[in-house]
Amino acid sequence: QSIYLKDYCQPEYWISQTELTFDLQDDATVVTAVLTLEANSAGAQSGVLELHGQQLELLGLTLDGDVLGTGRYTVTDETLSITGLAQQHFLTIVTRIYPATNTALEGLYRSGGMYCTQCEAEGFRRITYYLDRPDVMSVFTTHIIADGSRYPVMLSNGNCTADEMLADGRRKVTWLDPHRKPAYLFALVAGDLLNKEDRFTTMSGRDVTLKIFVEPQNIDKTDYALDALKRSMRWDEEVYGREYDLDIFMIVAVDDFNMGAMENKGLNIFNSSCVLANPATATDAAYQRIEAIVAHEYFHNWSGNRVTCRDWFQLSLKEGFTVFRDASFSADMHSATVKRIEDAKMVRTVQFAEDGGPMAHPVQPDSFIEIANFYTVTIYEKGAEVVGMIHKILGAEGFRKGSDLYFDRHDGQAVTIHDFVAAMEDANGVDLTLFKLWYKQAGTPVVSAAVDYREDEQALYLTLRQQCPDTPGQIGKQPMWIPVQLGLIAADGQDLPVQVAPALNTAGMETWTSASQVLHFTEAEQTFVFSGLAQPPVLSLFRDFSAPVKVEFQQSPQELLFRLQHDSDGFNRWDAGQRLMLDWIDQARLDEFELPEDARQVMVQLLTDETLDPAMVSYLLTLPSEAYIAEFSDPVDPHAIHLGRKRVRLAMAMALNEQFAACYQRLVSHAEYQPEPQQMAARTLKNLALSYWSVASDAGIRQALAQFGSTDNMTDQMAALVALINSGDDELAQQSLDAFYQQWQNDSLVVNQWLSVQSGSADLGTLSRIQQLLEHEAFDWRNPNKIRSVIGAFANQALCHFHAVDGSGYELLADAIIRLNATNPQIASRLLTPLTKWRRLIPELSEQMKAQLERVAAQPDLSRDVYEVVSKSLA
Ligand code: ARG
Ligand code: ZN
Repeated sequence: QSIYLKDYCQPEYWISQTELTFDLQDDATVVTAVLTLEANSAGAQSGVLELHGQQLELLGLTLDGDVLGTGRYTVTDETLSITGLAQQHFLTIVTRIYPATNTALEGLYRSGGMYCTQCEAEGFRRITYYLDRPDVMSVFTTHIIADGSRYPVMLSNGNCTADEMLADGRRKVTWLDPHRKPAYLFALVAGDLLNKEDRFTTMSGRDVTLKIFVEPQNIDKTDYALDALKRSMRWDEEVYGREYDLDIFMIVAVDDFNMGAMENKGLNIFNSSCVLANPATATDAAYQRIEAIVAHEYFHNWSGNRVTCRDWFQLSLKEGFTVFRDASFSADMHSATVKRIEDAKMVRTVQFAEDGGPMAHPVQPDSFIEIANFYTVTIYEKGAEVVGMIHKILGAEGFRKGSDLYFDRHDGQAVTIHDFVAAMEDANGVDLTLFKLWYKQAGTPVVSAAVDYREDEQALYLTLRQQCPDTPGQIGKQPMWIPVQLGLIAADGQDLPVQVAPALNTAGMETWTSASQVLHFTEAEQTFVFSGLAQPPVLSLFRDFSAPVKVEFQQSPQELLFRLQHDSDGFNRWDAGQRLMLDWIDQARLDEFELPEDARQVMVQLLTDETLDPAMVSYLLTLPSEAYIAEFSDPVDPHAIHLGRKRVRLAMAMALNEQFAACYQRLVSHAEYQPEPQQMAARTLKNLALSYWSVASDAGIRQALAQFGSTDNMTDQMAALVALINSGDDELAQQSLDAFYQQWQNDSLVVNQWLSVQSGSADLGTLSRIQQLLEHEAFDWRNPNKIRSVIGAFANQALCHFHAVDGSGYELLADAIIRLNATNPQIASRLLTPLTKWRRLIPELSEQMKAQLERVAAQPDLSRDVYEVVSKSLA
């Protein structure tokens, strides 16, 4: 059942025009598609056209106006094949589909009272028979016919060109999208929606209407996304020279959505949790997520839509690049250091885990069973890191030359990752052949570093070794081109100027540019010599997380503490602190723990230095999550991790109790809440201080209670709620949760936060509570956000309960997966991720987890999605 990249070939026909008519009736929708077919001279010449289609009722089929005889076509579960075709035809296909019972949320479905679509990757084939592949690009005209009183809003891609009343009283609206596009970018929305409108003038003077459509109760939650959209549009003009290309740009918020959002041409569709916000209901973290996703989808208009993917093996071409673009945008809007820290945390916890597990795949995979399973952290986040390394190698200017060439050269085309890299090479006259291994080799390279300071030579010898572990189907990897950004720090904390001896440059290129401070490490082993050093410096390696690799480099606690204090690279300050904390947590697994005095002093300094960015300080003082710690442990014992982390947390809270209290008081603000960077940064540190303060003292808990009852914004309310949940006082925790539910029961996005804060809690997320929540009136098995809030939070965050020694947590997850396999395979498959890690656990847990995987594997009627993950996990 696997599909291989090496089997790619062009289609036998192109579809130059696609005219769709949707007749939205109560019980079903009838879709009429008129396709203009043109033979592809570069394709096979068999005269057979094989269209994709799933779950369709075929009502009619005509070729150039004549009904096709049954001898001319065959229908299977997944295809419609027509034989005996010539060079050019008009093919008309009439199908009936059932949006109301579409629980998979792919193709056309109903969410609440509205119709909406999700066509990426292969959802369009659930709407009509089509060449549902991204290299087939077509001009789409869409007619929507529906009862205008129930569906006053009817939208599709492009511009609205007609709006008429039919003889039977129903309304017909026509949309024309002049830009050729693959079917995965098609969208349709119909519903009783309100919209907020704004305008944007592009750099060349085009006047664009911006609209966000929502269900009426959400109309007060659209301002921030509109604003973020305008910032994104401006930023893409300034940083990439890319301008919007239609007269209207629309966003629609829907409650039932498998992923975060979708970049359909001119008509982005968003999971409501990724677009709707107001101060009372959304946290600062939610605001930042909304800003990033609005930007991401908008940026796809160029990196994805204008230039699209030839096939789905190229998915990272658009996703890796677009994540890189949205990350740069967020870094520009907020703190670049903090953004880098967050991204590295994500890569180290989730992507490294994927790379080390049964689903490991290259950024450009060479095969898959179900493409929906490949919307992964490897394709997205590692793909973005790989683009980021190209940026590091070429510099900002060189990278921009490359992206300009890429967009100009391939505008309107469906291309490959190779084409992207070729544009970068050609614009800069560099050879990235070796670098391209990053796209082909799966797994996380491990870089070990050893230093030798030679006083007589006044030189530091740095020897780097790299090795990339075997992954399923890939053994014996080649060394990769790893950009190593580094600094040498003198005893006074200042960076030293660095000179590297060129004699040892074996990479065949300049190894060191002092402006970028990037070494190019390209062989299995290389030694770099830094000269002119009268004293041994402290080495700061992989600054700015310059490559997605694991680093083995022994530094003493004193050196780590020194770097936490002095490293001029904010990311590496954080990294040094995390390494220290990992060591502490390791020690604390076995014994009580006390915070070392020298570390305490550094932390006091951080808490009291008002010149520092409070958001950064907050990250510097935050312990690694249990999931992060697990990635640095082998084998993984979740209960020992939990215990060790808890002890260190308590030790820090006790040793710094006064400072946390004072820091909290200093940062309390009476200004009106604004979702803007400075306020957000201050709140982050304030609420971190509250969380420690309330662990160590009743005064802190009283303060949390006061904040919970008096605040006007969700950031502070949620932080207070979490502190109360963690207070260890079960009654207080439950009272607070009840009060919160009373206050917010009519706002489903807030209720989702209420669900996940319990399900993901080490104190509360027990099996019996999860079972209660699954029975709660607020829960709904059809809604992916609710499933993620309860089951996802439980399995990914409440690790000490999920990994219950009797295996009951695994069993609950497997039950949910089996249930969802029948209704929503994409969600079922995503929930499997925690179970794929069974091999890394301590034996007693490992066996139990494997048994649950086997139980899932033994189910009849497994979807392709679930089958692929389960079978690869057990292989
Ligand atoms: N292209 C979308 C984005 O990254 C993701 C859509 C994925 N949908 C899916 N069913 N796998 O912005
Ligand atoms: Zn994307």
